[in-house]
Amino acid sequence: MIRKVLVIGGGTMGRGIAQTAAAAECEVLLCEINSALAGKAVSTIATSLQRAAEKGKFDAARIPAVLARIRVTDRLAEGTESDLAIEAIIENLPAKQALFKDLAQRLSPQTLLASNTSSLRIADIFSDVQGPGRVLGIHFFNPVPAMPLVELVRGPATSDATLADGREWVERLGKTAVLVADTPGFIVNRLLIPYLNEAALALQEGIASAEDIDTAMRLGAGHPMGPLALADLIGLDVVVEILETRARVSGNPHLGPCRLLKEKVARGELGRKTGHGFYKS
Ligand code: CAA
Repeated sequence: MIRKVLVIGGGTMGRGIAQTAAAAECEVLLCEINSALAGKAVSTIATSLQRAAEKGKFDAARIPAVLARIRVTDRLAEGTESDLAIEAIIENLPAKQALFKDLAQRLSPQTLLASNTSSLRIADIFSDVQGPGRVLGIHFFNPVPAMPLVELVRGPATSDATLADGREWVERLGKTAVLVADTPGFIVNRLLIPYLNEAALALQEGIASAEDIDTAMRLGAGHPMGPLALADLIGLDVVVEILETRARVSGNPHLGPCRLLKEKVARGELGRKTGHGFYKS
């Protein structure tokens, strides 16, 4: 059973995974590239839990115990006791491959190795890792504490036991798991991200304002938020990365990002994380 979890990467997704795992009684070690970033990740988690408590979504009395279960480090070597190591670092294949090659040597052969990738293939990420039976994709959605779905993805040699352990952990976190083939974007992003691109294209072509596009999809299709606000939440760089991967792998350039998305990313307008995307936040 997975009880000790090493989370590598303290960005939006890594923080959300750490918070959710600690809330489900797991001992979490959150690893960032330096101690300043690691410390910042935990203070952001504390603020997020406080906000959730104020909205009545989380019991405020539990916050100190949840935070106490999250330790931070800038040294991967401290995670050798983990039952599961899950990464949420930059969406870059060589970076993820190098990380797992290193982790596979440091950690016990029993430690499960998981990637939270949103667009890369599990087979590629773990292509050179010792013990390919223990690897899998565990893909969470943003904001992690609030989104009830997780996609589980098998690599070419993932064992049944690894998949069962991964599924059991995800369910203990209060999430529902779906099993998806190892294709770029899996299922949610394959359907969702082209829709966000189309919304950006509609804005680029002057079909409606950003506000009216979002209102249209909230009120006309019952979505909890409009596509441009959602793209800001996900991060426009992440959206562009997923679209570019899909276009490259499919060999269909029409599946790539529209000009407006690319321009915004080039200007550093990445959405909520930079305070400016389709909206200012
Ligand atoms: N425990 C702890 N925190 C919780 C919580 C819980 N049980 N439930 C919610 N929260 C937190 C959230 O994490 C969030 O924290 P911050 O304040 O730090 O942002 C906050 O409470 C808001 O959540 P609420 O549920 O209160 O907010 P809401 O009712 O206004 O709904 C929303 C907001 C969940 C974002 C909703 O608008 C929504 O579902 N939007 C669609 C989101 C979506 O589609 N996400 C998928 C994106 S695709 C992706 O992530 C995959 C990828 O690879 C790119």
